[in-house]
Amino acid sequence: MGQAFPENFLWGGAVAANQIEGAYLEDGKQLNVTDVVVGILNEPDLKWNPKRQKWEPALKADKVYLSHEAIDFYHRFNEDLALMEGMGFQAFRTSISWARIFPNGDETEPNEAGLRYYDELFAQMRRRGMEPVITLSHYEMPLHLLTEYGGWLNPKMIDFWMKYVDVVFRRYHNAVNYWMTFNEVNNLFRIPFVAGGVLDIHPAHPEHVNQDLTERQLYQAAHHLFVANAKTVQLGHQIDPQAKIGCMLSLSSLATYPYTCDPQDILGVMEHQHKQMLFLDVMVRGEYPGYVQRSWRENGSRPDMTQDELELIRSFPVDYIAFSYYRSTVYHAGAEIRTDTGGSAGLDNPYLKQTSPAPWRWPVDPQGLRYVCNFLTDHYHKPLFIVENGIGLDEQPDETGAIHDDFRVEYIREHLIQLREAIADGCDVMGYLYWGPIDIVSAGTGEMRKRYGFVHVDRQNDGSGTLKRTRKDSYEWFRKVIATQGEDL
Ligand code: BG6
Repeated sequence: MGQAFPENFLWGGAVAANQIEGAYLEDGKQLNVTDVVVGILNEPDLKWNPKRQKWEPALKADKVYLSHEAIDFYHRFNEDLALMEGMGFQAFRTSISWARIFPNGDETEPNEAGLRYYDELFAQMRRRGMEPVITLSHYEMPLHLLTEYGGWLNPKMIDFWMKYVDVVFRRYHNAVNYWMTFNEVNNLFRIPFVAGGVLDIHPAHPEHVNQDLTERQLYQAAHHLFVANAKTVQLGHQIDPQAKIGCMLSLSSLATYPYTCDPQDILGVMEHQHKQMLFLDVMVRGEYPGYVQRSWRENGSRPDMTQDELELIRSFPVDYIAFSYYRSTVYHAGAEIRTDTGGSAGLDNPYLKQTSPAPWRWPVDPQGLRYVCNFLTDHYHKPLFIVENGIGLDEQPDETGAIHDDFRVEYIREHLIQLREAIADGCDVMGYLYWGPIDIVSAGTGEMRKRYGFVHVDRQNDGSGTLKRTRKDSYEWFRKVIATQGEDL
């Protein structure tokens, strides 16, 4: 058998600053958007439904925010990167916390202490043989930009963003070759506050937050993000012509299957896919597609934009498509599709026999990954980078201290087999970065209990724990996968 995964394929893992670093007010950092998000941990009946999600842009004394200390990666990154090196990681994805560099977002000078932290972090990755793969904003923006300016609803954000990006590109371009702009930016319509950094505030009464953003407002925010994305690509290539700059999307939702062959279901799937494709059509192909123009016309939701901005978007598409894939979804006309781990959730798919264990229970669909890779290749002809795939489990060491995470091994194995198929189909895949190679705080629920790691961290939902790191069974298995370049699955 020929080599299944290409020679230069990057194996590794991915995390985000706000879910791993902790030290939330250290060395000059101010509050991030995610620092004030109240997850399911505090509100057990809260589902990932933006209509029900309570959003208050300030800290509450009676709530628990595990992300404030997270797993203390800020102080322990050497130890943690050594563990990643032990698995042979060739790449490690994390994000820069914008609020470490510009604590309020609108300062004229960056915070040197924040810059120094990432100097050291990226240098350590390189020393340990890992390419830093850096998200410029992983649901992270200084909270002040939201409460003071309304976030991405406001065109001023483009300038604040470009200032931040200019500083980090100039500072780190020798250390970093792979960049991504906004994490899962297509979640803007589902979780606008976090994914889009959008807030409709009454400036005189910041406590009056409009929870129901109009479609037009959301498209306006998206447009500002698209302009910022294009300008980022332009500037990044000016500073470093070798840099690879990608967009990052949540694309489990592309694997949306019709429940029946009723044309209503087929068209419903198409419309659901269009909601994701919009972001690719703009950031990869460089233009707003006809289906969105129609929706603007019919719903009066066309955002403001100039010819110059459209020209920028056309001229500076991204170099690659980075995405997360966790599961697939079924669409049936009339049935609700809600937001859940990794994307959307509709009716159960009777052909998928396995779900992840309780309490999260999402459908396990490795073939969906092959489908998404092919879909992207057929439509966009760009290199693909899997920068998130993984499984959250509720697990603790047994009496011997071991964690037998067979389900995780099986989940990854099945997905890698399908990824190999996608590569054989002709998809140009740059690498596979497993989500959460060490246990971190869940983005969706704010919990520690939802663990993705090859390495367990002793921290519990009530905040207790020694922070001790312990290798799970999957650690050695994944090490072997990398060592054999995916031959030994
Ligand atoms: C992705 C996010 O949607 O899914 C990550 O980019 C997140 O930040 C991951 O952690 C898994 O979701 P969750 O809710 O289980 O943490």
